Amino acid sequence: MKHESQTQDDAAEAQNFSRRNLLRLVGGGAGLLAVAGSGALTWRAADNGVFAEGSGPAYEPWNLPAPTGRADLVRAAILAANAHNTQPWIFRVEDSYIDLFADSGRTIGTIDPLLREQQISLGCALENLMIAAPALGLQAIAELVPDSADPGHIAHIELRESSAAASPLLKAIPVRHTDRAAYRTDQAVPRQTLDRYRRAAEDDAVSLVWLSEPEVRQAFGDITVRATEAIIADPDQAADDYRWYRSDWNDIQTLRDGVTIDASGQSAFIRGAAKILPTTQQQNHDGWLRGTRDTQVSTAAAFGAIMVADGHDVAARLSAGRTFQRLHLMATGDGLAMQPLCQVLERVDREESAGLDDVFNRELADLLPGAGKAIMTFRIGYPTVAAPPSPRRAVEEVLLTAAP
Ligand SMILES: Cc1cc2nc3c(=O)[nH]c(=O)nc-3n(C[C@H](O)[C@H](O)[C@H](O)COP(=O)(O)O)c2cc1C
Repeated sequence: MKHESQTQDDAAEAQNFSRRNLLRLVGGGAGLLAVAGSGALTWRAADNGVFAEGSGPAYEPWNLPAPTGRADLVRAAILAANAHNTQPWIFRVEDSYIDLFADSGRTIGTIDPLLREQQISLGCALENLMIAAPALGLQAIAELVPDSADPGHIAHIELRESSAAASPLLKAIPVRHTDRAAYRTDQAVPRQTLDRYRRAAEDDAVSLVWLSEPEVRQAFGDITVRATEAIIADPDQAADDYRWYRSDWNDIQTLRDGVTIDASGQSAFIRGAAKILPTTQQQNHDGWLRGTRDTQVSTAAAFGAIMVADGHDVAARLSAGRTFQRLHLMATGDGLAMQPLCQVLERVDREESAGLDDVFNRELADLLPGAGKAIMTFRIGYPTVAAPPSPRRAVEEVLLTAAP
């Protein structure tokens, strides 16, 4: 089907592109050549996936089939955005319902001490599943947190026969990717588009606030850079963040999770170099800070904040996740790029859980006065390059029982 051939074309293009860049790397990288002969360098490059971006078993789930059975709804769900690509979900699939559970082993420690991001991620997966159901002739009706005795039971989703038309957002599911590269600075996102997204986000539990004027954009960018510095300076947060980075190609293909260098938004040259010469935690975090400051916040056309009344309420977090995922699919369909940018909230949660002075909490509240509590923040803009996919575990790994 279209997605498959598209992915193959993209992979071929990425391969050619990467080969060209490796030649640049070999040709221009005197420092690298000092540590390895070009033959050995090319071998190491091949072994570490420099030529193979987006290929191999870890990326196969992106070849999403048109739904023909219940498990295909889960195949759509696992392509959702999720914090640090932890994929914190387990599904029980039966003929008339699907249960969604949190995987308590897949957390980000002190980066997400209150499980806010984990629960938003589960909301994102739920939204993909709900969007895919009509294509299978089913209506999905979700009950959030259905069992008060089991907080890990995130949703019970009833499946009923239905003649509802397939959602127009379905086709965006396998092409939506977090875009961490620069966005175009010569093209603002039209006000009407931002307003349309705000209206689409609005429901009983959730609202969306845009930070699009230069002054507030600058202020949110500054606080995000400072929050990034604070995370890097906090030994526990720094270590917990780094635990989910994947630089080894073999790890990527076997673990099939985490944030990869390919998805970092860095140039092909830097990506190739990082794969050939493994980086330390400090080097990785230096690159993250540089990327955040010099590329991500400085090229955002606008920042969005998803707001709820009570940031600790699990159902509200799930609704926020559903909203974020829906917005990202809409944006993908409109040719726009998005990236969650949550360092400030990660510091806010850290302050609360570790009993620290709540400096980031107060600064963020000052930026977003009177509109509830921000629980998910992101940037939006027109892309400069196509965002690459991130790895995903196979559907069989996240099913509690064999699916009907
Ligand atoms: C709650 C939540 C928080 C996230 N925070 C960040 C973030 O601060 N920075 C970032 O680059 N990506 C962030 N992401 C994006 C994930 O890292 C991304 O969804 C994941 O790596 C999978 O990649 P994909 O979205 O391209 O499929 C977040 C996603 C979610 C759902």
